[in-house]
Amino acid sequence: MSIKKAIFPVAGLGTRFLPVTKAQPKEMLPIVDKPAIQYVVEEAVQSGIDDFLFITGKDKRPLEDYFDHSGELEHHLKNQGKTELLELVQSIACMCQIYYVRQKKPLGLGHAVWCAKQHIGDEYFAVLLGDDIVDSGKPCLKQMIEVYDEAKKPVVAIRRVPREDVSSYGVIAGKPLGGGLWEISDLVEKPRPEDAPSDLAVIGRYILPPQIFPVLENLEPGRAGEIQLTDALRVLAQDEPIIGYEFQGIRYDVGTPKGLLIATVEMALSRDDLGEDFERYLAQLVRKRNLL
Ligand code: G1P
Repeated sequence: MSIKKAIFPVAGLGTRFLPVTKAQPKEMLPIVDKPAIQYVVEEAVQSGIDDFLFITGKDKRPLEDYFDHSGELEHHLKNQGKTELLELVQSIACMCQIYYVRQKKPLGLGHAVWCAKQHIGDEYFAVLLGDDIVDSGKPCLKQMIEVYDEAKKPVVAIRRVPREDVSSYGVIAGKPLGGGLWEISDLVEKPRPEDAPSDLAVIGRYILPPQIFPVLENLEPGRAGEIQLTDALRVLAQDEPIIGYEFQGIRYDVGTPKGLLIATVEMALSRDDLGEDFERYLAQLVRKRNLL
C-alpha cells in the first residue's frame, strides 16, 4: 500500500514571529495572500494523500476555521455575485478532510508525532513540517512517495546546507546510493558545525513506519529537553535502513521572518497577476538605494 495518511505538527508557539503570533498561529502568516500552511497542505493533496491529521494546540482554532466553510462569508459573496471569490473560499473548505488531535504539552516534534499514534495505526505515513515550503514541478512529497513505493523503507528529505548552518537542522551520516539517494546510518539533531557528520540536513518531510511510535514512547528528552524526532530516527536506523532523498525543488524556510520575507518576494515575482508590476517596483528600489 502507498502513503495515504499525513500528519502536520502545528502546535508550536511561533515565538520567532512575536508579537504577531501572540494572537495568530504562525501557520496562518501569509505568503502574499495565502497562509503558509496551505502551501504544505496543497503539496500533500497533490501527492495523493487523502487523510490529513493536524497535531494542534491551544490557540490554533483559526487553522480549523480556515479549512472549514464560512457560511456568512460565502452567503455574502454569493449575494454580491462575486463568483470567483466564492469558488476560491469554497475550494479551501473542500480541499481535504482534516482530523485534529491536541498536543497538550510542548514536549517537542517527536512528541507531536507520537500524538498521531492512534490515528495512524499500523501503516507507513508522511510528516510535513509547515516551516518548510518546497516549490517544485513534481511535489516534494510525491517524489518521496515514489522512492518509498520502490524501496518500502522510511524516507527522509535531505539537502546540502552551508556548514555554518548545520546547527539549525537534523544532520545525517550515510553512504550515497546514487540518484540523490543515501543510506542513512546515523543522525544528529542540531550539531555544532565541527561535530556534524556531514552537511546533509533533514528538511521537514518524512515518510515513517508505525514502528516509530514505540521508539518515541521510550525516548529520553534530547536537545532542548524535548522529545526529538531525529533521535527516534537514529534508533530506527540501527535496525533498518532509512533512505535520505535529495529532493528536487526550491525550498523556503518560512520558520523565520527573513525566510518568510524571501518566500513572499520570490512567490510574488512568479505570480501572473503581480509579478511584472512588483519586479518593476523592486528594480526601482534597487536603483534608488544604490544596491547594485
Ligand atoms: C525540525 C527538526 C530538524 C529538521 C528541521 C527541518 O527542527 O527537529 O531535525 O532538520 O525541522 O526544518 P525545527 O526547525 O523545528 O527546530
